[in-house]
Amino acid sequence: MVTKAENELLSRVTGDAPMGKMLRQHYWLPAVLSVRVKYGQAPTKVRLFGENFIAFRGEDGKVGFMEEACPHRGASLALGRVEGCAVQCLFHGWKISSDGHVVDVPNEPNRPAEFAKTVKVRAYPSREGAGIIWVWLGEGEAPPCPDFEWMDLPPEQVYSAGIELNANWLQGVEATIDSSHVALLHTSWTTTSATDFGATRENTAVNYEFEKKPYGFRAAALRAAPDGSCVARVTEFVMPYYGLIPPIFTGPKQDRIAIIAVPIDDENLIQWYIYYNPEKPVDSMKRTQRANQWPMAGGLPGDRSNNWGQNRDVMGAGNNSGFFEIVIEDFVVMVSMGPIVDRSKEYLCSSDQAIIRVRRMLLEEVKAFMAGKAPKSAQTPAMSYQGVRAVGGRLPSTSDDWRQIAA
Ligand code: FES
Ligand SMILES: [Fe+2]
Repeated sequence: MVTKAENELLSRVTGDAPMGKMLRQHYWLPAVLSVRVKYGQAPTKVRLFGENFIAFRGEDGKVGFMEEACPHRGASLALGRVEGCAVQCLFHGWKISSDGHVVDVPNEPNRPAEFAKTVKVRAYPSREGAGIIWVWLGEGEAPPCPDFEWMDLPPEQVYSAGIELNANWLQGVEATIDSSHVALLHTSWTTTSATDFGATRENTAVNYEFEKKPYGFRAAALRAAPDGSCVARVTEFVMPYYGLIPPIFTGPKQDRIAIIAVPIDDENLIQWYIYYNPEKPVDSMKRTQRANQWPMAGGLPGDRSNNWGQNRDVMGAGNNSGFFEIVIEDFVVMVSMGPIVDRSKEYLCSSDQAIIRVRRMLLEEVKAFMAGKAPKSAQTPAMSYQGVRAVGGRLPSTSDDWRQIAA
């Protein structure tokens, strides 16, 4: 049971809210698709944790990531031009390099070069991986950038996409870690799948078992099947906002999926999907190309006023949800809770144990952070995410150990 005060502590991430400060200080985050930041184009606006930033690419290929407001008098640098390796403000022409130095102050008559040195601009550390620009928004020494196996895969083996949703970041995390909705919300998809994802429909009531890990935990959703076997789907929760879910597509060497719930502000998030395949080109890419865009590139099909575009006619014709894409089903239910769901009103059941664990872990970490300690789950140089993979499969019986399922 989460109190109203705990719910605030968990949800709020802007300004001096402790959760936001902890996330910014101790964890990197995916900020914007690499392809949206090109040399020769306008800077790209990025909003994170209630603050506005720009990302631009200099002629040397390096990314500049900094506050959107010009250090002079606050005009938006998104209006400016990128020249060489610097962005030039439209208003009075100040130029700021991608590494955060003011390199030209054309409206200053007195010793402009010396004056420029006195202006401090914070250029945030960034790196690129999985087609995404990752940034670190903390103060002081940056922790290591997460070394997930998808970070350095060739472009054809990883496909990333993100959607902005009107929901608090934790609703995104909770949607990802919750396996018990799979056979219910996604019924129309499970009935056409021959994998363990499809087999979830054999028993909609889930038992959970957990394994604690330095980075978070493994959550095994176990379903006793009518033939005595056990359908297992093991999700990885990696602090603070990563959920790696077992494959849902059919066939060998399936694509893997990581979902990351990144705060835009208190009431909005970007839900990132990284489809990756360590062994071959991703099929998800073909799927996306067929549709000519990721299913959610255009946003949700509706809003609260029309039940987010739910189609009751197709429901009557056998579709379970009235939505046409599996991810839309997830997004709509998440947004339908309202921008910050009141967790003090919930009635949690046994199959919500993974949700309870995520909240408990975040609350423990943020309380430690408020007491001046680094969160235990923060990545250190000694901690690697390389081997973290979500797995699924069918075990001979419910007494077999799900930890044996090979990645
Ligand atoms: S506000 Fe940017 S140069 Fe003056
Ligand atoms: Fe889902």
